Order: sequence, then structure tokens, then C-alpha cells
Amino acid sequence: MIKVSPSLLAADYLHFDKAVDKVIASGADALHYDVMDGEFVPAITFGEGLLDFLSKKPIAMDVHLMIVHPEKHIKAFADAGARYITIHQEAAGFGMADTLKLIRECGCLAGVSIKPFTNVDALTDVLDLVDLILIMTVEPGKGGQKLIPFTLDKVRQIKSMCEQKGVSPIIEVDGGINTQTAASAVEAGANMLVAGSAFFKAGDPKEFVAALKNL
Ligand code: DX5
Ligand code: ZN
Repeated sequence: MIKVSPSLLAADYLHFDKAVDKVIASGADALHYDVMDGEFVPAITFGEGLLDFLSKKPIAMDVHLMIVHPEKHIKAFADAGARYITIHQEAAGFGMADTLKLIRECGCLAGVSIKPFTNVDALTDVLDLVDLILIMTVEPGKGGQKLIPFTLDKVRQIKSMCEQKGVSPIIEVDGGINTQTAASAVEAGANMLVAGSAFFKAGDPKEFVAALKNL
């Protein structure tokens, strides 16, 4: 079963309320909430304050932390209603395992992400501490980019590493996902798809989500 998580990053910022309603009406499984700090990535987006309002809506909040020192902010995002919290391996440093444990202690599902040029081996030691692995299919930092094809090899690699270890976390992909690229991502082993621009540009969001879920 494929999960779809439309990204708020591509919404009309004057109408977040309507954007979340649109995501819910589309039949999507989660709302992808991209947090950028101006340091791990150049841009700054949204924090826990906005999440606190949006999480009152009946859809799981899929929080993607593109921030340095994620450990300092886990509790705040958990308290604000996150269901999934994903940190970046490149930002978590030596504290990665502890931060993943902290996410679970806060009652959320723990996710870890790698950027396109990070080796999947960097996740070997935390495979049993995560509920979700997010393979970035573009460089994190902005929406509307094209999927980098070699990142799908990382999806295959991480899937086989998980199988070998006997664990089956969700494998999420994020960046440049549309109906065409989604098919390749699912074929590679992804079972949760983030879509920003493609979702908000779709003429019929319900049809778009159904097409991805039926892959
Ligand atoms: C990029 C973000 C993505 C972004 C995807 O750094 O992590 O979640 O919203 O946008 P699209 O689907 O437009 O590539
Ligand atoms: Zn994201």
C-alpha cells in the first residue's frame, strides 16, 4: 500500500487552511511539513507554531526537519502534533541514534533522511531505530526541482539493507515526484511519496493521489 504525503511547501501561503483541506479531501495519507532553518539549507520556512494550528486537522503531520541540531526541537514539534518526525543524518551527527530514540519517546514515528550524495551506509547502525527512511530525490532546500535518477539506486540499496536486517521501515522519497517519476520510485522500493508542486498543480488532486496510490 502506497502512502502519499503532499508537501505544504508548494501551497498558496495566503491560504494554509484551504491547502490542508485540499490535502485531506484528496485522500492523501499525510501532510508533508518541510522545516528549513536557513543553515542546513539556505531557506527558512515554518516552525512548530504553525504546525500546532494545522495539526488540529484530521491528517497525520509528516514533519521533515532540514535543520541543524534537530535534537533541540523534537519535543516542540511532537507537542505541536507531529505524527512522523524525520531528521537528517548529515545534521544529526554523533547524536543521531539518541535523537531517533527521543522522537519515539515523544510518541512520534522516527524518521531519518539522507541527501542525494550521502552514502546509504551512513544509516547502517540506526536501521532498527527508525520507522521511516526518507531518501531525498533532489537536493533539499526548495521545491519544483527534477528528480535525480541515481537517487533511486539508493532506494534499492536501503530496501535490501532493511531486508537483510529483517526490518521494514517505510521508505519515503521526496523531490521531483510526479505521476511518471513516482512509478520508478515505487518500482525501486519506495512506499511513501512526497509531492509538492505536482500535487498543488494537479487539476484533480483526488485523481492525482489515486494514481500514485494505485502504483
Ligand atoms: C525539498 C522538500 C520537499 C519539497 C518537494 O527540500 O523537502 O518536500 O516540498 O517539492 P517538489 O515535490 O515540488 O519537488
Ligand atoms: Zn520534504
